[in-house]
Amino acid sequence: MTTSKEFSDSLLVWFDHSGRKDLPWQQQVTPYRVWLSEIMLQQTQVATVIPYYQRFIERYKDVYSLAQAHLDDVLALWTGLGYYARARNLHKAATIIMQQHQGEMPNDLEQLIALPGIGRSTAGAIMALAYHQHHPILDGNVKRVLTRYDAVSGWTGKKDIEQKLWKRAEQLLPQKRIANYIQAQMDLGATICTRSKPKCNLCPIQINCLGFQQGDPTKYPSSKPKKAIPIRKTNWIIAQSSDGKVLLQQRPNSGVWGGLWSFPESDTSENISNICKNLFNMAVINISPQSSIRHVFSHFRLDIYPHLVSGNEHHHHIAENKSFAWYKIEDALQLGLPSPVKSFLKSLQ
Ligand code: ADE
Repeated sequence: MTTSKEFSDSLLVWFDHSGRKDLPWQQQVTPYRVWLSEIMLQQTQVATVIPYYQRFIERYKDVYSLAQAHLDDVLALWTGLGYYARARNLHKAATIIMQQHQGEMPNDLEQLIALPGIGRSTAGAIMALAYHQHHPILDGNVKRVLTRYDAVSGWTGKKDIEQKLWKRAEQLLPQKRIANYIQAQMDLGATICTRSKPKCNLCPIQINCLGFQQGDPTKYPSSKPKKAIPIRKTNWIIAQSSDGKVLLQQRPNSGVWGGLWSFPESDTSENISNICKNLFNMAVINISPQSSIRHVFSHFRLDIYPHLVSGNEHHHHIAENKSFAWYKIEDALQLGLPSPVKSFLKSLQ
């Protein structure tokens, strides 16, 4: 494993010639200004944040003036930046800082984390950038850099993976120039080690990057595992008349297969005879279960159990409001049909 010195030295050399040094929150650095910028930069691009940051700082130059403000005015200034809980938390935290910390941003990781809207990574950034204290950060950019550098598989939202990355981030911290180093990590993630098409040829730590050595750094970080999709079951009642017609039902306009013609359905396969009797007045002679059909929708899987039913049908007794109708198979194939219905009808021909 690379030593922290090798990693941070390379990063700092790169920062000196290619890091960002003229962002508004890098001028006249104060804990309040770092805090505000870090909150605005959560989920928002630097270019979007800059004008908002400038207007905000002009209006509320310190914790005191923010705490004095009406929340409505703070929110108005935030309009267009999105994620308004950030503005509410900022305002609330300012009043807490006035009441509990004599108007000074705490110079302590745990006390920062205790404030609304400040997580461990944001607290680390404030500690490093504003107070030059040795604390790591682990925002999305840094997670990407570290998972690629060490070729760490597994979703970074998982507790054990996250813990491993925090440990590694801590271990890589340099003895000196902590603020530049933290800024360099953010800048590398934002400009070189980007999510797609990373510029590995310009990367100062490419030589030891396992993700690069393996040939495809964009394999990392692993994407969030997809939730298993739910499975639903249904039974198709495929009633066939002695003159070769099948019974179809038009589905309601809303929901899956809205407005299409399908076979009548039942949740259970228990009382198909009764259903046939009650719904379409058919005296069942024989029920023959068919092989099941699996149909996959985007958000669930449908397992279909078809039952071929023959009997003595009385066409004129079909309940009119149920939108049932008997069709010759060739005519049925001209209707709007879900694809598994169409396939099944073809197999009956
Ligand atoms: N994203 C989060 N914090 C940042 C910072 N200080 N500079 C640039 N981008 C950032």
